[in-house]
Amino acid sequence: MRETRLIVALPKGRLGEDALATLRTIGYAQNIPDKTRRLIMQDADHDVTYLFVKPVDVITYVEQGVADVGIIGLDSLLEADADVYTLADLGFGQCRFAVAGPLKKTGSAPGKTWRIATKYPRVTAQYYAKTNRTVEIIKLNGSVELAPLVGLSDAIVDIVETGSTLKANGLEIYEEMFALSARLIANRASYRLKYPLFKALLQKLDAEREDA
Ligand code: PRP
Repeated sequence: MRETRLIVALPKGRLGEDALATLRTIGYAQNIPDKTRRLIMQDADHDVTYLFVKPVDVITYVEQGVADVGIIGLDSLLEADADVYTLADLGFGQCRFAVAGPLKKTGSAPGKTWRIATKYPRVTAQYYAKTNRTVEIIKLNGSVELAPLVGLSDAIVDIVETGSTLKANGLEIYEEMFALSARLIANRASYRLKYPLFKALLQKLDAEREDA
């Protein structure tokens, strides 16, 4: 039997709103509101089911095959190191990874390792390993800008979009790391089994980008 249903995991929040806007430009998700408390919704016109999950959980739903497709920031994708296909850079959700800290950079005291607080320990470890620098990484789950203000860390590694959170907390960028944006990811088995559905989605996204 030909599989005709596509299950899409969308991140709740800022990135999810941009994701829905993009899907609407290609005719999908017309009946899906920007904000809803419902966690699962059906786009009957396209036989697509949308799951609304926390951004960091998109990858889990896709990797486990509960969702066929997901939209996720490159930051979460790199941190998760998951076994999924990356099908497209969707262009929205642009921001960057940076090392940041208090306006007066103190540097580490002699014999003391620099401490970096971050939601992204894997990305941070890889970044410093590449340049042979040793740092101590402190994993936090949010509001990382607080850490250097109260002496939990010397600096942070985090995503910076407008820079307003850094500014509001008296922090500045020490090092720009690299640029980030949203990616379309797919479960490996689903991609093979439901190839025609993926192809239709990718062709529409490509056509939309050419028109833009
Ligand atoms: C993200 C990020 C920064 C902020 C950057 O946090 O971790 O704190 O946004 O955006 P800006 O440069 O536009 O200020 P998020 O809003 O996801 O909250 P969190 O810190 O609780 O994870």
